[in-house]
Amino acid sequence: MESKKVIFSGTQPSGKLTLGNYLGALKNWVDLQDDYNCYYCIVDLHAITVPQEPKDLRARTLEVLAQYIASGIDPEKNTLFIQSHVTAHAELAWVLNCLTYMGELNRMTQYKEKSSKVGANLNAGLFTYPSLMAADILLYGSDLVPVGEDQKQHLELARDLAARFNTKYSETFKVPEPYIPKVGARIMSLQEPTKKMSKSDDNKNAFILLSETADETRSKVRKAVTDSIGEVNYSDDQPGIKNLLTMYSIFTGESIESIVDRYKGEGYGKFKEDTAEAIIEGLRPLREKYNYLMSNKDYLENIYTDGAKKAEYAARKMLRKVYKKVGFIPRKFD
Ligand code: TYM
Repeated sequence: MESKKVIFSGTQPSGKLTLGNYLGALKNWVDLQDDYNCYYCIVDLHAITVPQEPKDLRARTLEVLAQYIASGIDPEKNTLFIQSHVTAHAELAWVLNCLTYMGELNRMTQYKEKSSKVGANLNAGLFTYPSLMAADILLYGSDLVPVGEDQKQHLELARDLAARFNTKYSETFKVPEPYIPKVGARIMSLQEPTKKMSKSDDNKNAFILLSETADETRSKVRKAVTDSIGEVNYSDDQPGIKNLLTMYSIFTGESIESIVDRYKGEGYGKFKEDTAEAIIEGLRPLREKYNYLMSNKDYLENIYTDGAKKAEYAARKMLRKVYKKVGFIPRKFD
């Protein structure tokens, strides 16, 4: 276990997880778990950069943990934990904040998008969010970070900060590599297929939730926005159809070309019905297991407690090293 390379990744419990989170991230975490020493975190500190109802945040944090496990992430093999349980995340984030340039944070697309939505009274946490994300990754000496396309820019900052710290003090952090899947790295909204599918979308028909019913999924796929071309093609001119084809192909394992061939001259009705069924079938085991886990709260509590203890050990070790290098006097108690 010690010699395996390290993975860190996380999801915000800021909404219920979507098919985008699953195909862009979770599914790949499952595929990587045998070959790496993986830390999979529920990043609640990140979630409060936008307003949260405390009791909903608590409930969603547990739901996300259950969905990790229901997706096939084995809690025996991986370290599953809640970010706020390991205080080193916030502490290293502070140190990294003091190395991050305002200009770097200003350039972040996600910040620009989110801040334009929030409007006035922006909080500083939203701005410095990427330094916290860098801290998450660098604390564990991570080699690889499996994420969707939208996190690429944040990851580049984490790499820059690792290198900057190493140059300024001495070799401390690994410079992590992104792992972005070839297919599924950017699942689009069902209602505006030129925008990514997001759990915080106001339009409930825009996303498919891992925890919804088969009927809800069916109805959302049926209502998915397409185009007036009327022929199933994998083309940038038909972003809605392209998105559905991506989902269909990932869930059935069939190639896009072969699917396109089969629906030649058919219009969209049957294609949409079959896409919905492919998604529903693909998610069925996950949904069943999720419901079972949510009725076993004691089990979930054991998992996140054990996970935090393991993560705490590794994170403290790194933080002690960092504090020493920046010139803090080591404290004489633990
Ligand atoms: P979050 O919570 O927005 O999303 C979790 C993961 O899902 C991916 N994802 C998508 N992939 C494909 N298509 C989509 N429509 C889609 N929407 C989301 C995201 O890329 C991500 O991999 N900042 C991160 C959380 C985070 C993190 C970290 C990730 C905090 N610290 C350290 C990795 C390492 C975020 O907001 O993800």
